[in-house]
Amino acid sequence: MAQPSVVRTGIGIVGAGPAGLMLSHLLALSGIDSIAVDTRTRTEIEHTHRAGILEPDSVRMLVDSGVSDRVLTEGHEHKGIDLRFDGISYRIDFQSLVGASTWLYPQTDVFIDLANARNRDEGDIRFGVTDTRVIDITSSTPGIRFTDEDGARREIRCDYLVGADGSRGICRHEVPEPQRQQYFREYPFAWFGILAHAPRSADELVYARSDRGFALISQRTDTVQRMYFQCDATEDVGQWSDDRIWNELQHRLAGEDGLRLAEGPIIEKAVLPFRSFVQEPMRYGRMLLAGDAAHTVPPTGAKGLNLALADVHVLAETLECAISKNDVDSLDQYTARALERVWKAQHFSYWMTTMLHRLDNAADFDDRRQLGELRSVVGSEAGSRYLAEAYTGWPVR
Ligand code: DHB
Repeated sequence: MAQPSVVRTGIGIVGAGPAGLMLSHLLALSGIDSIAVDTRTRTEIEHTHRAGILEPDSVRMLVDSGVSDRVLTEGHEHKGIDLRFDGISYRIDFQSLVGASTWLYPQTDVFIDLANARNRDEGDIRFGVTDTRVIDITSSTPGIRFTDEDGARREIRCDYLVGADGSRGICRHEVPEPQRQQYFREYPFAWFGILAHAPRSADELVYARSDRGFALISQRTDTVQRMYFQCDATEDVGQWSDDRIWNELQHRLAGEDGLRLAEGPIIEKAVLPFRSFVQEPMRYGRMLLAGDAAHTVPPTGAKGLNLALADVHVLAETLECAISKNDVDSLDQYTARALERVWKAQHFSYWMTTMLHRLDNAADFDDRRQLGELRSVVGSEAGSRYLAEAYTGWPVR
């Protein structure tokens, strides 16, 4: 077989989703070259619908690093959320509690902004590659081998390799079993996510607990809405007509205030996976993991993308110290620095999930305890403030 043609760069990045692209962008600002590869095409990534909430630090990162300020002009500032239970909505006002807001700005737009910025700055991003393998991760020149879009075998050799290849990626499996710990939590339910052509049903997000299970009202534009409801992990989307979906959502949101969702044709239906996962450490040899490649959170609370961007912020600093200042100790600190936030976010996402979802076999005790918990949160400034603080994100150390 023909030898692959070899190119040399500072950082080889597996994965060109938001985490890989943001890292490549930040490294370029520090004068460090990188190449990112992804098995998906740019169009495939642009059409993968994910969460839509950015913490203020994520917004600042996009704007201040010169990716784009579209989040400020086209995104929507949310000054709080509603928690809804027993058919009544309770406002958690982030601004009065912690002086912060979040922004509704879909992950697909974050990706488009980053891909455009890498294009503008002539970054080297290879979409649509196949047969990706990482090699020699404990040597001083680790590498990535792949077949590019034109069918040619390629090899990248680099100083450090980053696995930003998501929860189904290849990189984290490269850490030998004795050197890694994996922490899991499975949940006996999932989310049914829809996109619908309809007017807004609420100005900001509504997280609702009902006797029929959890529901979430979110938005995309004035005419396209995003909503989710708790479903079985094995739910078949084919069994759900538009009418059945709207009926279920209306029941879960119904209350004495007469809230009604504005209905319309549903243009996308999908069941979203639901689990908590962390792999430690986040570095092995010259390979470092970022984002979903190292950890997954359940979607309640929208921490996934924000956590990935926070990892990348720390990782860009770490790699800059390692390369420009020859400070290899910084590599040793990456896992601990990143994991501090990861485990806080794991707790928050787990807590929001268990507080708002219904368990099929829940005893009356659990049901009543859950309502007690919700009342403790909305009825106490301390309770509400913890939610506001965690939802809007912890400062990067
Ligand atoms: C969205 C997704 C979430 O998981 C969440 O907690 C809030 C909003 C969204 O897609 O808009």
